[in-house]
Amino acid sequence: MSELIITKPDDMHLHLREGAMLKYACKDTEKQFARAIVMPNLKVPITSVNQAENYYQDIKKINRDSNFEPLMTLFFTNALDRDEIRKVSDSSVVHGIKLYPSGVTTNSDNGINTIENCFNIFELMQECEVPLLIHGESNDKSVDIFDREKVFIDRHLSGIHSKFPELRIVFEHISTKEAVDFVIGTNNKVNATITPQHMLLDRNDLLSDGIKPHHYCLPILKRSEDRLAIIKAAVSGSKNFFLGTDSAPHLRHQKESSCGCAGIYSAVCAMELYASIFEAENALDKLENFSSKFGADFYKLPYNKLKIKLIKQEYQVPRKINIGTEEIIPLFAGETLSWQLSEI
Ligand code: DOR
Ligand code: ZN
Repeated sequence: MSELIITKPDDMHLHLREGAMLKYACKDTEKQFARAIVMPNLKVPITSVNQAENYYQDIKKINRDSNFEPLMTLFFTNALDRDEIRKVSDSSVVHGIKLYPSGVTTNSDNGINTIENCFNIFELMQECEVPLLIHGESNDKSVDIFDREKVFIDRHLSGIHSKFPELRIVFEHISTKEAVDFVIGTNNKVNATITPQHMLLDRNDLLSDGIKPHHYCLPILKRSEDRLAIIKAAVSGSKNFFLGTDSAPHLRHQKESSCGCAGIYSAVCAMELYASIFEAENALDKLENFSSKFGADFYKLPYNKLKIKLIKQEYQVPRKINIGTEEIIPLFAGETLSWQLSEI
C-alpha cells in the first residue's frame, strides 16, 4: 500500500502546556489530529470547569484557522467535590477527570495520596458517566520504577474496577504486558491509550550504549516483551485500545540535564510513527479504528468528518523545534521515517 486515507484521528492523551510552548504544540497537533484530550497538569493544575473553559479558549485562539477541537480534562485533587462533577457532567468542554497519584510524574504534586478517599467521587462519576483517566503507576518510592504500573494494578486499579464496575476508566499510556492483560480481562469499561514510544522502544533504547534523555518518559520504557504485548493489543482490533500519544514537550536543557524531565515530544510525527508500526504488523487496515474511531466511541463523540492522507514516502523528522532562543527535541529527531502525512 502506498497511500492511506483515513478519518482524521483524535489524540486521546496530549500535553499542550502553556505560555510560549502552547503555540508550537498546538500547531504540530492540529495537522495530525482533529481533536485531542488535553491533560490538565499545568504548573497551576486545571481543577475546575471554569479554568478548563479558559484554557480551552486559549487553545482555540491559537488554532483559530483550523477546526481543531480540544477536549478538556480536570486534575483530580483532594478538593474535587461533587458539585464540580455535576458541572463536568453538564459541560460540553470537559470530557474527563485525570487522576495522578501524587508526585508520580511532571506537575503532579497536587495529585492523590490515598485513593480510597476518592471513592465517593468515583461513585458519582460512575453515576454521571464521567470518565476517569488514570496515570496508573504507584507513587510508593520503595517500589522499583519498572514495577510501578503492575503494583498500581494490584494495589489500586483492580479494586477500583471491582468496586465501581460501570465507571468508565482510561488506563493511560500502558507500558506493560500486565496492563494489556488487565484491560483484556475487564468488562469493556476499562480502556487504555497506547503511545508510539511504548510500541517502538524498550528500556535498552533508553539505557544501553549511553543514556538517552529524549527517550525518558513515565511510565518508563519496559522490556521488549512488554513492547510486543502492547503492539499486539493495538493491532488486535479490540475497541478497548486506542491512540493517545502522551506527546509531552520539555525544553532541551530540561531533558539534557543531571535531573532530566520525563516526557517525549511526538506531535510532529505521530501518525507517521503509528502507520509504520501498523504496516510492520501487516495491520494497516486496523489503523483507522485505533486512531479515529475507538477513542471517539469511548468518549461518546461523533466521528470526524475530515480525512488525512498518509503516503509511503520518506520523511525526515525535524532535528529540533525552535521556541525563541530555546529548543524542543522531538522523538526520532533527524531520523528518516517511511511514511509521511500529506495534503489531501
Ligand atoms: O513522560 C511523561 N510526561 N509522563 C507523564 O505522565 C507526564 C508527561 C509530562 O507532563 O511531561
Ligand atoms: Zn501524559
